[in-house]
Amino acid sequence: MSLADHWIENHKRDSWRRQAKASGYRSRSAFKLKQIQERFNLISKGDVILDVGCHPGGWAQVATELVGTDGWVIGVDLEACQRVEGAVLMVGDITEPHVQQRVLLELNDRPLNSIISDISPNITGKWDMDQAIAMNLVSLVFDFSLPLLTKGGSFVTKLFQGVGVEELIEVIRPFFYDVRRYSPHASRNSSSEVYLICINFMPWKFRKVSVLKKYEAALNLKLSGDDIAEAPDIITSSFSMRKKKGE
Ligand SMILES: C[S@@+](CC[C@H](N)C(=O)[O-])C[C@H]1O[C@@H](n2cnc3c(N)ncnc32)[C@H](O)[C@@H]1O
Repeated sequence: MSLADHWIENHKRDSWRRQAKASGYRSRSAFKLKQIQERFNLISKGDVILDVGCHPGGWAQVATELVGTDGWVIGVDLEACQRVEGAVLMVGDITEPHVQQRVLLELNDRPLNSIISDISPNITGKWDMDQAIAMNLVSLVFDFSLPLLTKGGSFVTKLFQGVGVEELIEVIRPFFYDVRRYSPHASRNSSSEVYLICINFMPWKFRKVSVLKKYEAALNLKLSGDDIAEAPDIITSSFSMRKKKGE
């Protein structure tokens, strides 16, 4: 990338940051969710939403506006967020069973209408490794949250372009009426980032499927020629994310 391209990228990023500040949103990411909503209309008044990787709370702000006073947003992040009216924002690692348990307690058997995940793992700087960790993390979020999603519900997640994206899409495609990639204007300055928009969940197609295991099997098939048809269907994983300093 040339110096001029870098300048344009930084300029666009700053412009979204300035807009976020002026509008009262805590992150420029807030505009990404707004643009996703404008395009796909996934969130409605009264919905129950799980916001994964919610710090500093920009998506939670947008989501609470969209669900209104009858709706409800539950957020989880490794870092503590300032309060957002209409949201319960928890601190914890979404891949940890005790954190998942807290989400379940909070839901108290109410199904989710949407899962919105802007999760990004702590960056090590080694692109291949970071991208692979991000793909595993997204698979784990699918495994935890899809059983909680209601019929017709939606799942939005950030992905980083690279190895495994096609394989993950093929694993989850059968569970939704439509799965597509989308780059909101607010993230078009980041060439590696894309959002996966999964629309109209069909729970009867999902039963007892581990997205992580299927994804790993599909990746192995690509890399070494294993057979995806032999992928196990049981949900369990020992994968856990590295926490940020001070956690
Ligand atoms: C891009 S930020 C999210 C921005 C947010 N959507 C907003 O609009 O304010 C990604 C977040 O993912 C969180 N994260 C990374 N790994 C996580 C994990 N295992 N569990 C929960 N949150 C995680 C990070 O702490 C970080 O705050």
